[in-house]
Amino acid sequence: MLKIGKLQLPSNVLVAPLAGVSDSAYRLICREFGASFTFIEMINARALSHKNKVTKKMLATDPKDRPIGVQLLGCETPYVERAIDVLEKYDFDLLDFNAACPVKKVCRRGEGAALMKEPEKLQEILKAIVSKWKKPVTIKIRSGWDENTKNAVTISRIAQDCGIQAIFVHGRDRKQFYKGAVDYKIIADVKKSVSIPVIASGDIFSAQHAKKMFDETGCDGILIARGGLGNPWIFKEVSTYFENGRIPEAPNTDEIINTLLHHLELSIAEHGEKKAVPIMRKFVGWYFKGRRFVRPLRQSINPVKTKKEFTDVIEALRGT
Ligand SMILES: Cc1cc2nc3c(=O)[nH]c(=O)nc-3n(C[C@H](O)[C@H](O)[C@H](O)COP(=O)(O)O)c2cc1C
Repeated sequence: MLKIGKLQLPSNVLVAPLAGVSDSAYRLICREFGASFTFIEMINARALSHKNKVTKKMLATDPKDRPIGVQLLGCETPYVERAIDVLEKYDFDLLDFNAACPVKKVCRRGEGAALMKEPEKLQEILKAIVSKWKKPVTIKIRSGWDENTKNAVTISRIAQDCGIQAIFVHGRDRKQFYKGAVDYKIIADVKKSVSIPVIASGDIFSAQHAKKMFDETGCDGILIARGGLGNPWIFKEVSTYFENGRIPEAPNTDEIINTLLHHLELSIAEHGEKKAVPIMRKFVGWYFKGRRFVRPLRQSINPVKTKKEFTDVIEALRGT
């Protein structure tokens, strides 16, 4: 359904790279609901080239979680090259380079979205990656730096000329961070100006949003980002809608509880109970977003430390 270089993906609905969220447990949950492609959490090239222990742990993947990509953040070609030396010992299907991250300390270092202001530097890094990494290389960009410098089209053309094999575009500029309107037009302009696949990102929280993105931009694929937090059902919703125009019923409380507790199990298997429980506390608000009991629920879940305490609070919601 979507081909990036030689990599054939079974569908064009992908899990977005999500630093601090898309650990193995999160990715496996999304897979269970039909996600066709995931990314491990973004990795800083400098940290990876130093073989930082935490960073190396992030590289572990599950055979059920394939095909899978790795995303690099960086702005110095030698560190990016060294990071690729490390990554070559692992079996990732795709390498994405991040020119989209809006975080202040990242951009201050000249990394992430700041690279959109430095096309020549970006070009040098992309050329180095393409000549070193044997599998498909992609780039993730924003619409631009701010409303006055929306240069996604220029950057996309440069990327294509460097041998990049697909472009992920978040239709917001860096100044917008994650708020404000998504610029569908600029994604459409990117699509028209390159021949490689364009995968669009921004405000896809439902099947209708997914359709709107495809219709308005002509994109080849979409990324599900915040729309998947506590809502892995969105992958099924989108695929069912595209298959037969129907929207499956929203999950009931029991289904949400079962999935959340399964997610907890996966997180414990990955991180151990002590780390997994705090990670999963933040997911509780997402899984029950919009429910009238979400506020008191957050208060009850915040102090819990063990699997038993977590499970007791969640099980008490059955039948509500
Ligand atoms: C918590 C969080 C972490 C993110 N981490 C990354 C990341 O590591 N790399 C990246 O390219 N984009 C990252 N993004 C951006 C998303 O991939 C996506 O492009 C953006 O959220 C817009 O989509 P949405 O409006 O559907 O959420 C992150 C977004 C969020 C909310």
